[in-house]
Amino acid sequence: MLRHAATAIPQRDARLLLAHVLDVPADRMTLILRDAVSAPQRDAFDALVARRAAGEPVSHLVGRRQFYGRWFEVTAQVLDPRPETETLIETALEVDFTRVLDLGTGSGCILLTLLAERPDATGLGLDLSEAAVELATRNGGALGAHKRAAFAVSDWFERATGRFDLVVSNPPYIAAEEMPGLAVELSFEPRMALTDEGDGLSCYRRIAAGADAHLHPGGWLMVEIGPTQAQAVAGMFTAAGLGEVGIRQDLDGRDRVVLGRKPL
Ligand SMILES: C[S@@+](CC[C@H](N)C(=O)[O-])C[C@H]1O[C@@H](n2cnc3c(N)ncnc32)[C@H](O)[C@@H]1O
Repeated sequence: MLRHAATAIPQRDARLLLAHVLDVPADRMTLILRDAVSAPQRDAFDALVARRAAGEPVSHLVGRRQFYGRWFEVTAQVLDPRPETETLIETALEVDFTRVLDLGTGSGCILLTLLAERPDATGLGLDLSEAAVELATRNGGALGAHKRAAFAVSDWFERATGRFDLVVSNPPYIAAEEMPGLAVELSFEPRMALTDEGDGLSCYRRIAAGADAHLHPGGWLMVEIGPTQAQAVAGMFTAAGLGEVGIRQDLDGRDRVVLGRKPL
């Protein structure tokens, strides 16, 4: 069924779903290939395969996803963390920071990864979605970061107090007019995580405008972008008074991160 469905890698997906049903790590599956599968397990697997064939992401079906080597709980109410967002992590880890702000934190994957990589750092993750804040808080607890990470409901910078060495964000950047043409998998993601209901750039305008008031001198603003947005976002950073404005590419060579620094 998966071979004819929306998934590009049917065998990998089938293996992950079966491992979930059998409650074994996916990389141990070959060890139990000869074990019998019970009727309820077979029914559960068939039900998951049917949902996957309809386009539902594997992470939603198994309830978790690996990001930068760590497991995060995910639900249909937050964006499924994406491999390309690891470019933002790599870029952030090039600079020094002890206090970090993550705008539009979703599952908390960006903030919690940065704190795990920098054990002396503390951070704040904000999101307009209450469900996202609840999930990010759970992920913080599961990763042992509850003392260093706080999460709150906020419209971008609204609830951010104090200044930060690093402000990161992966905001919704798909233009409203592009939404009807998206892959079927994306229809399972919350719409507010994907689009700004405008030209795809309005969140960057808000974030660039608020950065100066929330960065320490010498602090960095770094955002994930869609591959065609680099010049527009870099222009906003420069207009907002940031220096050392740069663009970084993801593993596929597409523009993926724009960064800029508040002058010292
Ligand atoms: C592309 S998702 C990124 C989620 C997560 N940071 C990640 O990279 O997987 C964008 C996030 O921005 C949040 N968001 C949308 N509008 C917002 C606003 N006005 N203020 C704060 N967060 C917002 C969404 O709820 C969503 O969690």
